[in-house]
Amino acid sequence: MEKIRLWDLPTRLFHWFFAAAILGAIITDLLDQITWHSYCGYTALVLVVFRIIWGFIGPHHARFSSFVPSLSNLKAFFKDQRESVLGHNPLGALSVIAMLLIVLVQASSGLFTDDEISFQGPLSKFLSEDMVKFMNQIHGANHLLVYGIVALHLIAIFYYQKIKKNNLIGPMVYGDKEIDLKKQPVDQIKVSKDDVKIRVLAGVLLMLLIVLFKYVVLT
Ligand code: HEM
Ligand code: HEM
Repeated sequence: MEKIRLWDLPTRLFHWFFAAAILGAIITDLLDQITWHSYCGYTALVLVVFRIIWGFIGPHHARFSSFVPSLSNLKAFFKDQRESVLGHNPLGALSVIAMLLIVLVQASSGLFTDDEISFQGPLSKFLSEDMVKFMNQIHGANHLLVYGIVALHLIAIFYYQKIKKNNLIGPMVYGDKEIDLKKQPVDQIKVSKDDVKIRVLAGVLLMLLIVLFKYVVLT
């Protein structure tokens, strides 16, 4: 058995803060804490934009080009569910894309909402009353997709972890995956870079996005 770096630190930190932000947005909505709800939503929005950019400039396994499946990849996966897929498997990859897009719609529509009681989204002043109502409707309807995709994600992770005995959570926490070199051809093994340079790049990108968000959206 050999350990290889699968998820770089920025991708792991993204994941756990993103999960916390989404769960936070759901809980604060249920508790009617709209100001805290908007803070969780802003965090989710900045993180989702970070992850999309990271999907183009990040290390190998974080890149969309390494996991977004073609139709033939998907067909092959359904025929023969190989255990040896490193990174996201083709079906998991689709759910990752769905999670990012659904949250992008949820959080960005939130910016234009107005609950007509105490809270106005920071960009709602730029829209007509009808458009704000429309954004409220999008935000209200799309939240069901957020619930659905999060539930599906948790069930899938549980299924892989407990039933297929494929430890996905370990690598998302510690970064490394243990692989069997006898099963996995050595020339197919790609490692994710996770050195100081890549971490500093992620930090700079995140800082830039936070500053941009503060001065463009929250002014
Ligand atoms: C305690 C709850 C959670 C656990 C244990 C968990 C676990 C995981 C694991 C193990 C992966 C890697 C899957 C793979 O190897 O293909 C993953 C990926 C992912 N999860 Fe979660 N997750 C949780 C909550 C959430 C929540 C609430 C969200 C919000 C939508 C979320 C969004 C994502 C995303 C976007 C990815 C892809 C990561 C990337 O490529 O950057 N997760 N999760
Ligand atoms: C990913 C992030 C977010 C999630 C998961 C989320 C989730 C939700 C949910 C589940 C509701 C209740 C919908 C209903 O019962 O019809 C809601 C309502 C609301 N959200 Fe969000 N939200 C997010 C981001 C935001 C952001 C960024 C803002 C504002 C800046 C925001 C502002 C609001 C407002 C004002 C309402 C109440 C709407 C009304 O009562 O008409 N949300 N959100």
